[in-house]
Amino acid sequence: MIDYRFAFATPADVPALALLIERAYRGPEAAKGWTNEAEILTGPRSSPEEIAGLIADPEARFLVALDGDRPVACALLKRHGTGAYFGMFAIDPAVQGGGLGKLMMTRADAAVRELWNANYLRLSVISLRDQLIAWYERRGFVQTGQHEPFPFDSSPGALRTDFHLTVLQKAL
Ligand SMILES: CC(C)(COP(=O)(O)OP(=O)(O)OC[C@H]1O[C@@H](n2cnc3c(N)ncnc32)[C@H](O)[C@@H]1OP(=O)(O)O)[C@@H](O)C(=O)NCCC(=O)NCCS
Repeated sequence: MIDYRFAFATPADVPALALLIERAYRGPEAAKGWTNEAEILTGPRSSPEEIAGLIADPEARFLVALDGDRPVACALLKRHGTGAYFGMFAIDPAVQGGGLGKLMMTRADAAVRELWNANYLRLSVISLRDQLIAWYERRGFVQTGQHEPFPFDSSPGALRTDFHLTVLQKAL
């Protein structure tokens, strides 16, 4: 595997992160992958404004993996109670399946412990995405039994509405 460098994003990374997130979740390259959500959601996953706001938030960080100067993976880490929330997880479609996702999870665990002394990591996944939920379970997450409503109001590109967000958590 390439020797990736890990860092927290700065405002200069906003355009590259916005592009990476769209390519990983919604673009034609994502549609070829096993995690694609093309049959569930269309339209943008995020926006440069949302990403810039999160980078400016003192209670949040974007962990990025860099190949040279180019971000090839990102994950949002956000303080949440005594733990942390993990989200906007995206691996460049060109390097998916090469182990970088697993490496990012390990880095994320270490980062939230170091930043906030977090004692859990929490995330939410679209309830229809069984294979992705299984991927997180193999990384030590368990389903909490909690569900959250999907934000359909801010996601006009939803193609169906028969799902919610499944909350998973792992102790650190
Ligand atoms: C989900 C994602 C982060 C995984 O990252 P990655 O770098 O591709 O993952 P890795 O290479 O570390 O691991 C590959 C894993 O995928 C699994 N996998 C590969 N193809 C698969 C398929 N067709 N069906 C199910 N699992 C598959 C492998 O079995 C392996 O898991 P294992 O080691 O536990 O067996 C990445 O695919 C991604 O960015 N997806 C798009 C955005 C997204 O869905 N983010 C998560 C939102 S909650």
